[in-house]
Amino acid sequence: MKRVSSHVSIASEAEINLDLSRLLIDKPRLTLERKRSFDEQSWSELSHRQNDGFDSIMHSPAFPSGFDSPFSSGTHFGDPHPLVNEAWEALRKSVVYFRGQPVGTIAAIDHASEEVLNYDQVFVRDFVPSALAFLMNNETDIVKNFLLKTLHLQSSEKRVDRFKLGAGAMPASFKVDRNQNRNTETLVADFGESAIGRVAPVDSGFWWIILLRAYTKYTGDTSLAESPDCQKCMRLILNLCLSEGFDTFPTLLCTDGCSMIDRRMGIYGYPIEIQALFYMALRCALQMLKPDGEGKDFIEKIGQRLHALTYHMRNYFWLDFPHLNNIYRYKTEEYSHTAVNKFNVIPDSIPDWVFDFMPCRGGYFLGNVSPAMMDFRWFALGNCIAIISSLATPEQSVAIMDLIEERWEELVGEMPLKICYPAIENHEWRIITGCDPKNTRWSYHNGGSWPVLLWLLTAACIKTGRPQMAKRAIELAESRLLKDGWPEYYDGKLGRFIGKQARKFQTWSIAGYLVARMMLEDPSTLMMISMEEDRPVKPTMRRSASWNA
Ligand code: GLC
Repeated sequence: MKRVSSHVSIASEAEINLDLSRLLIDKPRLTLERKRSFDEQSWSELSHRQNDGFDSIMHSPAFPSGFDSPFSSGTHFGDPHPLVNEAWEALRKSVVYFRGQPVGTIAAIDHASEEVLNYDQVFVRDFVPSALAFLMNNETDIVKNFLLKTLHLQSSEKRVDRFKLGAGAMPASFKVDRNQNRNTETLVADFGESAIGRVAPVDSGFWWIILLRAYTKYTGDTSLAESPDCQKCMRLILNLCLSEGFDTFPTLLCTDGCSMIDRRMGIYGYPIEIQALFYMALRCALQMLKPDGEGKDFIEKIGQRLHALTYHMRNYFWLDFPHLNNIYRYKTEEYSHTAVNKFNVIPDSIPDWVFDFMPCRGGYFLGNVSPAMMDFRWFALGNCIAIISSLATPEQSVAIMDLIEERWEELVGEMPLKICYPAIENHEWRIITGCDPKNTRWSYHNGGSWPVLLWLLTAACIKTGRPQMAKRAIELAESRLLKDGWPEYYDGKLGRFIGKQARKFQTWSIAGYLVARMMLEDPSTLMMISMEEDRPVKPTMRRSASWNA
């Protein structure tokens, strides 16, 4: 067994083999309890199970095939909410077929909107909540087809003008091109070469790996992840982010607009969303890569990177009251290894709002950390993924949830959940967004509220034992979503207004709601997306040692 470190543990080859086999051995365990509803009481049971290998249990299908809605037996919420059936109906309408097979879901079906732009495409990131909903409803084919189609698209030619993109890049989106004359269908992908701003989606490859693990864990079908094509696809994705360069940090350097926030919003550098997804994808890949041939090298590289990344994120991205106070009192211009203020952050650059926003109890991962720059904004996706993936320590996870509770009005308000907080305004908005009329204060990516984030919030709530908090958020969303036609986002400080340019019937708003509700109904489904705290590798106890003890 190879140990990368004694401090932060990384799965070794032996563990990985073990992991895959454990996935299968434990398979039937959860099925017995799947339909039980979740309340505060059952949490302790669930967390206990997590500690004894919950993370590695391979799931078997939740419901017999042909089962249409997973809420036939009303549990925690009582009878199925009328929204659930409506949501399933709308989700089914969004399914995209390629040569007769379901391959994904369209971003939005908004007939009223004049500008289609690329909302008629299947976005990789948007499909994730759809995929989770379908998996939970035992409709696994669409997920498998999606994974295979996008895998094949990875090998298409990708070019921006005369520049060729890396082989591992995964598409932001794809569409089915139908030639009526020839009666043919082809898939056409966009890797950023057509996207507004011409940015490649760094998150797509990570989501692909995360989804492959979710599929494998839920269905028990390891053959897909083990296939040479999937192994190669993972290696190509990883190759893009594990290659050596001029980096002095283990975090991934990114350009603006490379993730869910796909416009200029001042997230260039080391955005938390990408770092959290990077961490999670690395851990997922570690469970799925075969330790043979090329896979072996990657496993070793992943181990080293995770070790450094975990340390960096937990230490330098973390902000709570004591940390903020330390930064506030930082000395600057320190040189050499003894420097406390390693990145030379100037205390004067701390924005005023943070001092009011930071509760005594609670904390969060900063938006971005780079030389002389800390983005103090709070970002939902990165912080929720940090909890789900266990990038956050258990204490940090609790603190993130404490902060959401303490700042409920600001972060949840009337519609869960703010994509980031606070909005940037005036001169700052002009400089940072380049005067983007779509990202005006408290709108869209600039402090808008996105219903899709509800599933991530719910997953984080369940993982930290706060189902009541998720319930509260879901009920808030239920009071508006259907009535408002499933908008893409809401505007305003409290998220009270349907977004200025929000699409209606935005698929991930619909799917995000369904996933949130299903997870709360059956918290064991969390395991397909959640990862356990990485435990230190225990030294093997030899007989003689135990005798001596
Ligand atoms: C917007 C969002 C992006 C999403 C796309 C399709 O561009 O910023 O995250 O993938 O719409 O819904």
